[in-house]
Amino acid sequence: MLQEKMTIVSQKSLAPRIFEMKLQGDLVQEMNKAGQFIHIKVPSEDKVLRRPISLAKIDKKTNSCTIIYRVEGGGTAIFSKMKAGDTLDVLGPLGNGFDTSVVESGQTALVIGGGIGTPPMYELSRQLKEKGVQVIHLIGFASRDVMFYQDKFLSLGETHFSTDDGSFGLHGHVGLLIDDLLAKGIKPDAVYACGANGLLKAVDEKFAQHPNAYISMEARMACGMGACYACVVHVVGDETGASSLKVCDQGPVFETGRVVV
Ligand SMILES: Cc1cc2nc3c(=O)[nH]c(=O)nc-3n(C[C@H](O)[C@H](O)[C@H](O)COP(=O)(O)OP(=O)(O)OC[C@H]3O[C@@H](n4cnc5c(N)ncnc54)[C@H](O)[C@@H]3O)c2cc1C
Ligand code: FES
Repeated sequence: MLQEKMTIVSQKSLAPRIFEMKLQGDLVQEMNKAGQFIHIKVPSEDKVLRRPISLAKIDKKTNSCTIIYRVEGGGTAIFSKMKAGDTLDVLGPLGNGFDTSVVESGQTALVIGGGIGTPPMYELSRQLKEKGVQVIHLIGFASRDVMFYQDKFLSLGETHFSTDDGSFGLHGHVGLLIDDLLAKGIKPDAVYACGANGLLKAVDEKFAQHPNAYISMEARMACGMGACYACVVHVVGDETGASSLKVCDQGPVFETGRVVV
């Protein structure tokens, strides 16, 4: 883990409130796993806490990485106004990412993403494809106008979309796409998911017994590296609530059936 002033190479709007930012710096050489995140300082004196954002693409050759973020509050609003050439104070890469060692060339992986949980699945899918793994993407958004990266996912493998309002792909949530796929008899060798809590719950339940199924959790964070306990989640079966896991350094990726979603 390193701290560095990374330079913004480019920033563009992908959809209303959704931005893609490319950052350059030596820290990229430390980035390996999809699902890891960077902790970015907001360049504003009244915002002390860093903002965690997932890596959407790692490109070691150009020393750059891409993040995709949605403007939620004051911090991300400030990021969205920054321009190429500006710098950001970045800590990272942080967290345990997705384990791709569990699948081999020729096997099938199910890559499930929902809304602003979709970005890390792009780097994951790139890495899986590079290994020769067949990827099937199931991606859900609220509606057609907030969708992004459709072509990029399609270029990596079979992709099915759903929207909550039916404006693109299947009408409904990603859980229905999962059911459709399983009904066709497809048995994925690994399952990876990131998205809203409802999506994670569905994946956690449907693949509770799967040996290689993973979900990426979100939690409010402060330190981002395991020191403050701001980001704990509870362990399944722990009635006392005494054992907890920290999303920032023991996650954000956990095996299904392990933590309370
Ligand atoms: C591991 C991880 C990866 C993430 N990856 C992405 C991503 O790739 N793209 C993206 O758009 N968003 C991502 N998020 C959510 C993102 O961190 C929040 O949307 C962002 O911090 C909001 O900051 P703000 O100042 O705009 O909002 P405010 O509401 O003003 O934030 C106030 C505080 O709450 C924290 N916070 C607010 N919402 C969240 C949240 N949902 N999760 C965690 N902390 C939050 C902020 O870090 C900050 O400390 C990720 C969160 C986590 C935990
Ligand atoms: S944010 Fe401090 S321990 Fe996770």
